[in-house]
Amino acid sequence: MASVQLDSNKQLERETLTKSSKQLGLTEYWAEREIIENPAYRSIAQPFVWHWRDMQPLLAKASDIVPMEEAYRRALLFANPGLAPKAWMTTTMYGGCSWYNPGESAEVHRHPPSASRFVLSGDGGWTAVDGEKCMMSRGDLILTPNGSWHNHGNDGKEPVIWMDLLDLPLAENLNNSWVMEYDYYEQEEGGEAAKRSTQTITRTEDYSQKIYGIGGVKPTFLSHKRAAGYGSPMYVYRWKHTVEALNRLREFLADPCDGISVEFIDPTTGDSVVPTLSFGVHMFEPGFEPDFQRKTASTVYCVIQGKGRTEMDNGKVLDWEENDIFVVPSSTWYRHINTDPSNDLMLYAVSDEPTLKKLGFLRRQRRQADGNVTER
Ligand SMILES: [Fe+2]
Repeated sequence: MASVQLDSNKQLERETLTKSSKQLGLTEYWAEREIIENPAYRSIAQPFVWHWRDMQPLLAKASDIVPMEEAYRRALLFANPGLAPKAWMTTTMYGGCSWYNPGESAEVHRHPPSASRFVLSGDGGWTAVDGEKCMMSRGDLILTPNGSWHNHGNDGKEPVIWMDLLDLPLAENLNNSWVMEYDYYEQEEGGEAAKRSTQTITRTEDYSQKIYGIGGVKPTFLSHKRAAGYGSPMYVYRWKHTVEALNRLREFLADPCDGISVEFIDPTTGDSVVPTLSFGVHMFEPGFEPDFQRKTASTVYCVIQGKGRTEMDNGKVLDWEENDIFVVPSSTWYRHINTDPSNDLMLYAVSDEPTLKKLGFLRRQRRQADGNVTER
């Protein structure tokens, strides 16, 4: 920044100007320019990994000493150190790992952030949403889009652990002040509407799969508007179908950065499953050497199968293994390496790319081994 020498009178006037500006709630751009323009001053998410081997014992301890009734969620939240004091993963995504003992449940509620669950451990967990009881197994993706009434529980014989992920920071940054609603009412038979802590299951078992589980086919005699109408009407995406799809794609040339990858979509529109976030899985076969990439979108990953590392610029490396969860923030050069010589690596990926795309902020680049950078 250029430094201009002022005479003593003008210097005094400058000091008065600064004082007057402050009193009027004004800030001098020339004094703040460095802070405004230099990314180093911004509060941004850092690349970070939460290891399952560290989290699981803490959750197990909490399951014993933190009663479910205390908060109706027994979750450890992922707090990115770059975003303290907020417990956010990125400036758009919030998440945690929740533990439900057999027989435990959380009461029905709804909120503007769209939410997802991705089961890490245990069978018997369920989420009820818009009258559908969605049973949850490892690797399944369960959606509760913006404004849909939902509740959770565990009917199984073992604890269930899942990863919750919401676009809550985005909703908060956009001043969405209507946060949580617990006033859920249902019409009693022949009587008045009564407040309930659970919702009645009104849809047939495995409704989402029965209606939308066969790709390329959409029933034409049923309504596809569910809950508030935001996001996909298909609420359950089964891991066994994801694996089947990925296996069928092996014969095709993989993406140079993301390997063989699929995105879960709204089957009625082809769009992302919620308006703000995309959900998908990347598969990296043994020995695959991806190119580096970067994008203005941020991504949260969960290692559903395999082990490896994420290499970034400046020599930063995140090592991870099964069930670990990690963040690659916006604008970071990175690539994922499968370090297992004989097994596929499967990464569940959640990105705020749909939001950036809609706002005209999305930019993606690939850097090849020779250093050549191209737009994607
Ligand atoms: Fe919720």
